[in-house]
Amino acid sequence: SDPTLVARARAAKDRLGDRLFVLGHHYQRDEVIQFADVTGDSFKLAREAAARPGAEYIVFCGVHFMAESADILTSDAQRVVLPDLAAGCSMADMATFNQVEECWEALEEAGIADQVVPITYMNSSADIKAFCGRHGGAVCTSSNARRALEWAFEQGSQVLFLPDQHLGRNTAVLELGFGLDDCVVYNPHRPNGGLTDAALRDARMILWKGHCSVHGRFTADCVDDVRARIPGVNVLVHPECRHEVVTKADFVGSTEYIIKTLEAAPAGSSWAIGTELNLVKRLGTMFPDKTVTFLDKTVCYCSTMNRIDLPHLVWALESLADGHLVNQITVDADTTHWAKVALDRMLALP
Ligand code: 13P
Ligand code: SF4
Repeated sequence: SDPTLVARARAAKDRLGDRLFVLGHHYQRDEVIQFADVTGDSFKLAREAAARPGAEYIVFCGVHFMAESADILTSDAQRVVLPDLAAGCSMADMATFNQVEECWEALEEAGIADQVVPITYMNSSADIKAFCGRHGGAVCTSSNARRALEWAFEQGSQVLFLPDQHLGRNTAVLELGFGLDDCVVYNPHRPNGGLTDAALRDARMILWKGHCSVHGRFTADCVDDVRARIPGVNVLVHPECRHEVVTKADFVGSTEYIIKTLEAAPAGSSWAIGTELNLVKRLGTMFPDKTVTFLDKTVCYCSTMNRIDLPHLVWALESLADGHLVNQITVDADTTHWAKVALDRMLALP
């Protein structure tokens, strides 16, 4: 990356000292991740944000919903900054508050709302998390979805899972032993979600029709192809991949799990990884004694994660060092209260 920008980022970080804490998600570019004080998956970063009460500024190199969660979990005096406000998440955008309210009304009309526990994936806006908090539900991430679902089924007999249908289905079927026919997909663009009241009543998992467009590109054929090309390859994918991909894979887990698995793998072993490309490329450099291949044949970055680049980071850090608070992410008090209830339920999972 541009040496002048690297030097400027370093200088701005030095000027801010302990007042600054930089968090970096594993999907961030190398040029950005080198300035992160901590890197992690969504779960680890939420905990790290909550564990830094001394930092006046938390600069979040990730996407909008992560910065919102950091604001919810930090004190009022702390400021959370997202270096580019356009770094959203297309999956999070697939569930709006109004759509989720409408869905809940459909569940009420079907007579099941009082036994349904809403669980939202971290990849959702703060108002969806607050909705879950208000209705007895919780947040989960890809590293604790199983425990969150087990908890939910202790509270009620059905789960509304938002907004990633794949994480919901993969966890219910592969980790909890549910059948595929225990799951229905609620489509927010159809009346009653495109489902009959009877279908809603019979389902154990009501999955929101949302997905990640990056992970959605991996297909079962990708797995077959890579196994034909590289004999003995281990296929390791993120649970946001479609069910048929996860079923064919050897290992499945969050970005942090993917890194730990590669770390523990024997030298000389081969790995095909089904997740975002910045991370897969980095794994190749981190573990030169192992063969690391991208599961798809085409290029597959998360375009919104990639919006945080070194020029944006330098601009944010220099602005803060000069006393200008830019790109602050804030969540209003009521939403913060209820979203924190849902986040705290997640953080308290055994
Ligand atoms: P994790 O880092 O929690 O595995 O999540 C992946 C992701 O899609 C973040 O947007
Ligand atoms: Fe959203 Fe997918 Fe990008 Fe994660 S990888 S931020 S889920 S679009």
